[in-house]
Amino acid sequence: YLPSALAVVAAYLMGSLSFAVIVSKLMGLNDPRSYGSKNPGATNVLRSGNKAAAVATLLLDGLKGWLPMALVTWFGRDYGLREGTLAAVGLAAFLGHLYPVFFKFEGGKGVATAAGVLFGVHWVLGLATLATWVIVAFFSRYSSLASLACALFAPWYYMIGDRSFWYMDKTMALAIFVMSACLAYRHKENINKLLRGEESKLGSKAKR
Ligand code: G3P
Repeated sequence: YLPSALAVVAAYLMGSLSFAVIVSKLMGLNDPRSYGSKNPGATNVLRSGNKAAAVATLLLDGLKGWLPMALVTWFGRDYGLREGTLAAVGLAAFLGHLYPVFFKFEGGKGVATAAGVLFGVHWVLGLATLATWVIVAFFSRYSSLASLACALFAPWYYMIGDRSFWYMDKTMALAIFVMSACLAYRHKENINKLLRGEESKLGSKAKR
């Protein structure tokens, strides 16, 4: 069990790197936890007006979900790691983002990291989910609504793609479902704002 446990802990530590905070600091921007939605995520960094910082946050937060999955997929077999470990590793990276050990366990909402994990499961799953985000965001202009749509659809995509693109694994299905549930829960504030019509649209800057 040691290699599995080490992989899960390493994934959690990687997930704990809150890139919204790190990138902002490196680029001399305000801490994203101090303005807008106060969320350390790409959407909120975009409210600073610095697109490059938002894109860097998005890619790095995604990478920390994808990389542990890719490493286990490529080298896991050499260490006797199986499907269950892959699912646990994805969930660990995601939970690291939500509850980062390096940032007082106060993390983000997990959208980019979950997307990275889904790309790590299979690029088709990642792409289908990304397309869902883009379409909903394009028409609604709400990042949060697009993320919630992804949380709703991703588990279905995983089930639908079974046998055509991948072989469904029950632990992975469970991990994806848990990620979706956590992601939706972390958006409770956004859901309330959406219902009240007070959610900020993509492209609008933080009034702070
Ligand atoms: O990626 C998180 C997004 O869905 C919502 O972010 O800052 O608008 O709460 P935010």
